[in-house]
Amino acid sequence: MNRYIDTHTHLYDEMFSDDAENAVRRAIDAGVTQMIFPDIDASSRKAMMDLAAKFPENIHTCLGLHPTSVDGKWRENLEEIEETLDGGTAAIGETGMDCYWSKEFVKEQEEAFEFQVRLACRKNLPVIIHSREATELIFNVLERCKPLHPRGVFHAFSGSIETFRQMEKYGDWYVGIGGVVTFKKAGIAETVKQIPLERIQLETDSPYLTPAPHRGERNESGYIPFIAEKIAMQKGISIEEVAEVTTSNARKLFNI
Ligand code: NI
Repeated sequence: MNRYIDTHTHLYDEMFSDDAENAVRRAIDAGVTQMIFPDIDASSRKAMMDLAAKFPENIHTCLGLHPTSVDGKWRENLEEIEETLDGGTAAIGETGMDCYWSKEFVKEQEEAFEFQVRLACRKNLPVIIHSREATELIFNVLERCKPLHPRGVFHAFSGSIETFRQMEKYGDWYVGIGGVVTFKKAGIAETVKQIPLERIQLETDSPYLTPAPHRGERNESGYIPFIAEKIAMQKGISIEEVAEVTTSNARKLFNI
């Protein structure tokens, strides 16, 4: 059986309150033996840590403040995170900027994002970036942080090949490809043909962005093979190659 890593999954979300442990087991049974849990904010952090503690071989946690959780208290929140960082943290995130959800704290989002990129560089950790209607703002921050050699992944990447090439100028960056690649007419299904497999991380973003044929249902990490299959088809390569290369990509980036 192929082995996969889901590099972005929120199985600790309230939508899994009844069966989170079973969702982890179903993923393992489907060959998704490792999962990265990006952090959102303090409201769900305990649920994330508790679920991860039950599967220490399979789950790796991150620490960060999601852009839609940024408000006037972002600095306090992040200083608290900095104090709790330890060797068990796989990445800083998810961070980034989201101008679709709200523009109310856009300045704070930018400051909190830059704080997290700098923190990740100091700790030699990768960054998980959430970017929604904010590509230029994100690139501005990466430009300022470039001398520190930030690295990481643009999660739920839906940009053009030009955006991908611009991203590569900022160093060691990957794109997270998820369920959207399986949607009919999705632009990323075409773009993915031009993105080297060595730069792709597989992710579900569970419970959201469910791949076909489960579109409309709750998403879970066990659906990673549907995403791998579509990438293989688009690139004209085998699913085994997609599994092998993306698993190696994730091991490298998250040091797992
Ligand atoms: Ni997420």
